[in-house]
Amino acid sequence: MRFFSSLFSLLAIATTSVIAQSANIGAPADMTQIAAGSDFTVMIDRPDSLTSSTEVALVIALLNCPSGSSSCLGPSANLGTVLYTGPFDPQFTTEPGTTNLPPHENFTLTVPSTFAKGNAQLGVVHVYLLGLALTHILETLNTTIVVT
Ligand SMILES: *[C@@H]1O[C@H](CO)[C@@H](O)[C@H](O)[C@H]1NC(C)=O
Ligand SMILES: *[C@@H]1O[C@H](CO)[C@@H](O)[C@H](O)[C@H]1NC(C)=O
Repeated sequence: MRFFSSLFSLLAIATTSVIAQSANIGAPADMTQIAAGSDFTVMIDRPDSLTSSTEVALVIALLNCPSGSSSCLGPSANLGTVLYTGPFDPQFTTEPGTTNLPPHENFTLTVPSTFAKGNAQLGVVHVYLLGLALTHILETLNTTIVVT
């Protein structure tokens, strides 16, 4: 019995860590206007945590949502045009004025020049392995940009 109760507290800790370890879209801010054909920076934050984790992959994609972000069902339903797929290596920065930022990586991406104007869902899929058990976690993040 004691074994099971400590197992349950371990599970509770693991669940809390998953929430605490969730990545965030640090930039662009919600509703940022970006011209089709131009470059923009996507900053993905990975708040530091005591629980070890191993990064696997990141996908960043853009989907036209003509009548606002509520007309898109989220990145787990539809990603649209993939702008980046590959490794994710969040790091602390050492440049003056940026040392208070959480570990993060910046991606410089381009809005395709033919991309439909209006609201677009910037969707992120983040895959990593958590803790010593290497539990696989897939999370999706999203924000809205306005393509002009
Ligand atoms: C999109 O992001 C917002 C803010 O982070 C979140 O509340 C919402 O649940 C997300 N929507 C989907 C469909 O993932
Ligand atoms: C990433 O971008 C943010 C926001 O533009 C900036 O503050 C930060 O210094 C950048 N980090 C790196 C490693 O260039």
